[in-house]
Amino acid sequence: MTDVTTTARAKINLYLKVTGKRPDGYHDLVTVMQSLSLSDTLHFARTGGQELRLDCGGALPGDKSNLIYRAAEAYFAASGARFGVDITLEKRIPMAAGLGGGSADAAATLRALALLDGNRLSEEELLAIAARLGADVPFCLVGGSRLCRGIGERMEPIENNLGGYLVITIAGEGVSTPQAFGALDAIYGDFATVEDLPPVALLDAMKKGDIHSAVPHFYNMFEEAIMPLRPAVSACKKALLDHGAAAAMMSGSGPSVWGLFEEEKSARAACAALLESGARAFLCRAE
Ligand code: C5P
Repeated sequence: MTDVTTTARAKINLYLKVTGKRPDGYHDLVTVMQSLSLSDTLHFARTGGQELRLDCGGALPGDKSNLIYRAAEAYFAASGARFGVDITLEKRIPMAAGLGGGSADAAATLRALALLDGNRLSEEELLAIAARLGADVPFCLVGGSRLCRGIGERMEPIENNLGGYLVITIAGEGVSTPQAFGALDAIYGDFATVEDLPPVALLDAMKKGDIHSAVPHFYNMFEEAIMPLRPAVSACKKALLDHGAAAAMMSGSGPSVWGLFEEEKSARAACAALLESGARAFLCRAE
């Protein structure tokens, strides 16, 4: 095989609680992650030489600062393989939005290079490379619906039968993840008062496919730190709820907001109204 095309799915957090700060500065969390049909597409073509070329169509630089580039280098270092590859990225996932776009691209790169290399590494080895690239990369490698703990690398599959339609919307500037964690540190200190428990009621409602029982249990601790700084986040949540979303919540460290709709028609109407107002908006599904 010399050519591979992969789909890199965005993620949202249906639940996110930071429960502690580690000596290395990273934070422990309990989060429910869900991958989406909203995605980037990456093409990989094996070439004769040894060179790694990355074309992002101007969306972002194709150099070592790019997580795709770092994922490829990490794959070669861990596997001992080395071959030339031309990578093309079609970017659709908004960046610095809390949707895991960079992590999804890195995970897709690991999968594609493993395939081009004859799948010589085990799943555990790929997950270990993923964890070194970023906290959300292991989840992006497997996708679906997962309860994640630790810094995100301890994952358990969960059942999500909620169905419905998701509208993802973003207005205002991107949020830097380290700054968002810093803002939570300022509120919670060492997080000693925060309980480290899985969101049992939410997991139960997700399994039953009961959107109304799930609504009070969706949660994102980052809203408390980011919403006072970003009025656009509150405006997006209000717009989604006004258009009939059963729930609306910021994803990750923001500023993207998801709205969950039972009916496709109202999700489409909400998406159209948000686009009309100048926000970015995407209609998608859990996938
Ligand atoms: O791992 P990733 O590169 O996505 O993380 C970006 C930054 O976010 C880290 O350098 C760290 O400051 C912060 N972070 C954290 N705890 C996590 C994930 C990220 O403190 N669980």
